[in-house]
Amino acid sequence: MAVSEQALRGERVLVVGGSSGIGEAVAAAARDAGAAVIVASRRPSRCRVDGAQLIELDVTDDDAVERAFALVGAIDHLVCTAASGFPRDLLSSPEQTRLLMESKLWGQYRCARAAAERLAERGSITLTSGIRSRRPLKGSGAFTVVNMAVEGMARALALELAPRRVNVIAPGTVETPVFDALPPEVRQRRLEAAAAQTTVGRIGTSEEIAQAALMCMTNSFLSGAVLDIDGGGMLAQ
Ligand SMILES: NC(=O)c1ccc[n+]([C@@H]2O[C@H](COP(=O)([O-])OP(=O)(O)OC[C@H]3O[C@@H](n4cnc5c(N)ncnc54)[C@H](OP(=O)(O)O)[C@@H]3O)[C@@H](O)[C@H]2O)c1
Repeated sequence: MAVSEQALRGERVLVVGGSSGIGEAVAAAARDAGAAVIVASRRPSRCRVDGAQLIELDVTDDDAVERAFALVGAIDHLVCTAASGFPRDLLSSPEQTRLLMESKLWGQYRCARAAAERLAERGSITLTSGIRSRRPLKGSGAFTVVNMAVEGMARALALELAPRRVNVIAPGTVETPVFDALPPEVRQRRLEAAAAQTTVGRIGTSEEIAQAALMCMTNSFLSGAVLDIDGGGMLAQ
């Protein structure tokens, strides 16, 4: 039997943002590893992971986060992938930038805060940043700001919540529904450009990112780490 098949047996995993893309793949991987999975998002019924408990939650709302976590109760692991907003340049898209900050930065802060008192002593929190934290790209500056802040937050939380573990997954480009907001030709161009900026010559899959989230949950010696899963995107010229 593969280790990963039973690595989360009997554990409760809450995936905030598990209705789509990377979060949905994390929910599926945790379920396959034996966990009882709870998926929370604004439209959780989009989630196609059989057996997951679904909870409606908007992470931009303080009270809603508290209510949802109270409903969920004790958990062993929290994984946050929720984010909305598709800012272009940092200065020219203030509303989209604010939305990204509210959902991705403050949203993960709210979830971590609400999880703290409900998290098992040997449990973990996995936050999500992204390649743009340390590899900025003209035209997506807000992601650099937010992702860097998320990585700093995780390190601070790893100290505050010890012995519980806190880590970050930092994906490179992965084709998920997040790109549906773009016109098809722009989307195609963007994904091809992203593939060219890797050492492996392609963009990633949600399942590849989910494997890293699974490692954050199951490796009991991993804390305060940022896992770059980007096909060498930090290095490519
Ligand atoms: N895809 C990439 O290339 C890439 C690269 C680097 C980093 N990332 C990061 O990876 C994470 C996941 O991205 P993805 O590509 O999987 O995106 P996605 O497919 O759009 O999924 C985003 C998830 O967040 C949920 N969500 C959005 N706003 C929310 C809110 N206010 N409250 C609760 N849930 C909310 C969505 O569900 P509902 O609509 O049901 O609320 C959905 O489940 C994000 O942090 C993203 O920045 C992605």
